[in-house]
Amino acid sequence: MILYDERLVSREEANIDIEDRAYQFGDGVYEMIRVYHGRPFYMDEHLARLERSATEIRLSLPYPITRLKQLLLDLIQQNHLEEGNVYIQVSRGTAPRYHGFPEQARPLVIAYTQHAKRPLAELNHGIKAVTTEDIRWLRCDIKSLNLLGAVLAKQTAIDHGAKEAILVRDGIVTEGSSTNIFIIKDGTLHTHPANHLILNGITRQVVFKLADECEIPISETTFSKEALESADEVFLSSTTMEICPIVEIDGRPVGQGVPGPVTKQLQEAFVNEIK
Ligand code: PDD
Repeated sequence: MILYDERLVSREEANIDIEDRAYQFGDGVYEMIRVYHGRPFYMDEHLARLERSATEIRLSLPYPITRLKQLLLDLIQQNHLEEGNVYIQVSRGTAPRYHGFPEQARPLVIAYTQHAKRPLAELNHGIKAVTTEDIRWLRCDIKSLNLLGAVLAKQTAIDHGAKEAILVRDGIVTEGSSTNIFIIKDGTLHTHPANHLILNGITRQVVFKLADECEIPISETTFSKEALESADEVFLSSTTMEICPIVEIDGRPVGQGVPGPVTKQLQEAFVNEIK
């Protein structure tokens, strides 16, 4: 089943119009929520961010977030989703193509589930990344459907045999194409502050909590591409990739080229969190 507007229906029953504004303009917002043991992980935080993203693009959700939460819980249950993802998207709706907001359209909510295991090989061995220019717009704090900047960056990584692209704007590391980036230098964690240049990841916020519990100091200040290159450890965070070591950047090893001790400590703390 999938969620279509306010109903759970089969995928075949859902009908997306060719003039849906998500389809034509990328005019909408989305979320991805992880499910462990049949339970959504940090669901309220994701739904609060969805509401915020919608507000920032002046889109009113067609029904209350509490109702959406119940529908998503029903969807997870009906699909017997034990381990996987829930994708939620809200479009501004369907109207004759014109850039300005439509007067009549009802925003369309859709959601579906995917069975997906934890990416254990990547989590254990780490991944390769490449750096690339951050060419995205200046409201990266909004989880909008306009993802071309991220799509092109991710493909650059794939073209180089890497798993993630680390974005650099004016010499400063902002985030990954679909992840937040952390470096560790002399025992301190550094990550870009949560402003308009990055998405304030829910997993990023979990990392803050875990670092606090592990008494690992965190500095939410910008760092340069050079600092990235000379870091002791680098990792990324996201809903689907959790806390994942980055062991090679632009063909050069990070530290010893294997997951570092601070990253591993945070990964262990994360595993406790999802039990
Ligand atoms: N990506 N930064 C960007 C640009 C992202 O797209 C994402 C999430 C993150 C991490 O946020 P979170 O920890 O809340 O997942 C950071 C999702 C998973 C996606 O696009 O599929």
